[in-house]
Amino acid sequence: MSFSADLFLKQSLDKREAQNALRKLIVNNHKVDFCSNDYLGFAQSVELKIAIENEYRSIIQYTNGSGGSRLLSGNSAYAEELEKSIALFHAAEAGLIYNSGYDANVGLFSAIGQKGSTIIYDELIHASVHDGIKLSSATTFMFKHNDLIHLEERLKIAEGIVYVAVESIYSMDGDDAPLKEITVLCEKYNANLIVDEAHATGITINKGKGRVQQFALEQKVFARVHTFGKALGCHGAIVLGNNLLRNYLINYSRSFIYTTALPLHSLMAIHQAYQLLEKSDTKIEELHQLVSYFKNKLASNNAVRFIESDSPIQCVLISGNSNVKNIAEALQLKGLDIRPILSPTVPKDKERLRICLHAYNTNQEIDAFFNVLLSNLPTIES
Ligand SMILES: Cc1ncc(COP(=O)(O)O)c(C=O)c1O
Repeated sequence: MSFSADLFLKQSLDKREAQNALRKLIVNNHKVDFCSNDYLGFAQSVELKIAIENEYRSIIQYTNGSGGSRLLSGNSAYAEELEKSIALFHAAEAGLIYNSGYDANVGLFSAIGQKGSTIIYDELIHASVHDGIKLSSATTFMFKHNDLIHLEERLKIAEGIVYVAVESIYSMDGDDAPLKEITVLCEKYNANLIVDEAHATGITINKGKGRVQQFALEQKVFARVHTFGKALGCHGAIVLGNNLLRNYLINYSRSFIYTTALPLHSLMAIHQAYQLLEKSDTKIEELHQLVSYFKNKLASNNAVRFIESDSPIQCVLISGNSNVKNIAEALQLKGLDIRPILSPTVPKDKERLRICLHAYNTNQEIDAFFNVLLSNLPTIES
């Protein structure tokens, strides 16, 4: 029996290897960071670390774990206050914290997607939304990436309670959803819009409150998901919506109910990260300056194929898994940590270098990237 299981595992891995798409864990190599989601440097911030430690030390009763799920012994006044303060910051009526963004999306979509309802999702929506939808009983429709005409076609045939799932900034392509237009369509067809703000949290010019607030669309969305593991440099996520949604999720969202709650230390990290965000206008501004610098370099190099994006996620397209792997290797050799994104993670011919910019990157580092890229492009693309 175990032989056949092992054989299955081996054959599956061999298949990946043959496609040049085998995934491997790499220990953090301390090269120039063009790869993490730590957009503002919070994950490595000494200021944040000290603030978390100070708050933790200031409480009389130290706890390690939370001791249980939120519905049993794992709840605290601290968790509830934190949810209220984050909801207030994001101009939402209520919020419910999950242990991760993955849990939040799985828990949200699996719970709301009841039989007879419809979930319409952008084809590039994050895997966690896909997994949540798979666990739901809803009818599901995909619409082509950012394609409003296709979305409207889907809305016309959708039945029951209708939900539309988008990311404000797409994790893999870095481009924006046309949020305003999508809210107009959702209003027209009485659909409930859910916006995953994972990559917008902390980086938008309105104190990092996300795109929904940047465009004053708070009243037009049904729910938002903000994650804390990217620009906020810690871990966890919150689903924002009204009190009804919060109470519904407490009752029906399995990834909220059946898991040990985050420990106090993690909650304090989230609290302190939001405090630091209030003081981070300069960092956000620096990040946007780097994005502009990078985009100007892209625009002045005709040989480079790229995906249009105004966010810190920039993608240079290089067809073929081995081509993109080779060029990523050349970048690594020069001390630049940029990972290749291979098919089948992205469609064939859309293989890419995914460059994440951070407030702590420099123009010189971007120059170094373009030097390596341009000197390797002709041989590889020819
Ligand atoms: C768009 C999007 N949603 C959700 C998640 C999951 O968030 P977390 O890493 O907190 O589980 C990610 C992270 O990869 C993401 O990119």
